[in-house]
Amino acid sequence: MKVKLKIFRYDPENDKKPHYDKFVVEAEPTDRILDLLEWIKDYQDGTISYRRSCAHGVCGSDAMRINGVNRLACKVLVKDVGTKVTVQPILGLPIEKDLIVDMEPFFDSYKSVMPYFVGGEENPQKEQLQSPEDRERFDDTTKCILCAACTTSCPSFWANGEYVGPAAMVNAHRFIFDSRDQAAAERLKVLNDQYGVYRCHTIFNCTDACPREIQVTQAIGDLKKAIATSRLD
Ligand code: SF4
Ligand code: F3S
Ligand code: FES
Repeated sequence: MKVKLKIFRYDPENDKKPHYDKFVVEAEPTDRILDLLEWIKDYQDGTISYRRSCAHGVCGSDAMRINGVNRLACKVLVKDVGTKVTVQPILGLPIEKDLIVDMEPFFDSYKSVMPYFVGGEENPQKEQLQSPEDRERFDDTTKCILCAACTTSCPSFWANGEYVGPAAMVNAHRFIFDSRDQAAAERLKVLNDQYGVYRCHTIFNCTDACPREIQVTQAIGDLKKAIATSRLD
């Protein structure tokens, strides 16, 4: 089958404004959109720019808008989207070139929630054990691959890029609900500020966009409850 692709192009150093380029590619229904982009780059236009690494839904580097929905190009098949495909960069982050965005603001928000384990003792002499039930509390949020599909599909984030966003909150959740971690209060304080959890208006785009099927909105709900029931100075 022939697939018609319309691809967003913009080089801020040389272009006054963005435009779209059109390509026609011979494809199988089981080809992935990433396969089509690779073919275009190899045989039709080597200047087209996008990020990808693993090509198997693990690294999270090829999130893009495909027919208006945030997805990983390596996980979407032609038969899922049809023979007319529009590809755009994810929204709300500065464009570096074509489908590549500057991920620094996204990772700044991620870092702000202390996305690492904070143990109690400096030199623990034995393992810090955890029951299967306690481990289960944050199992879902361990699956994040930091692709940014959630944050960049959120209208609250589009309205204000200072909003910490769902991806950072998913990663805060992973540690806040870990029974061994000692820094929940500090993280909740970060999320209790004007750019934290209350910017989430339960729109659910984040949950729909997540390629790992993480229940993102539910995780944010857990954080809202934790803030409401904690005593934060
Ligand atoms: Fe990507 Fe899902 Fe993690 Fe958001 S929560 S960054 S959509 S893997
Ligand atoms: Fe945005 Fe998701 Fe909340 S889309 S408003 S973070 S439920
Ligand atoms: Fe790694 Fe798609 S290229 S997730």
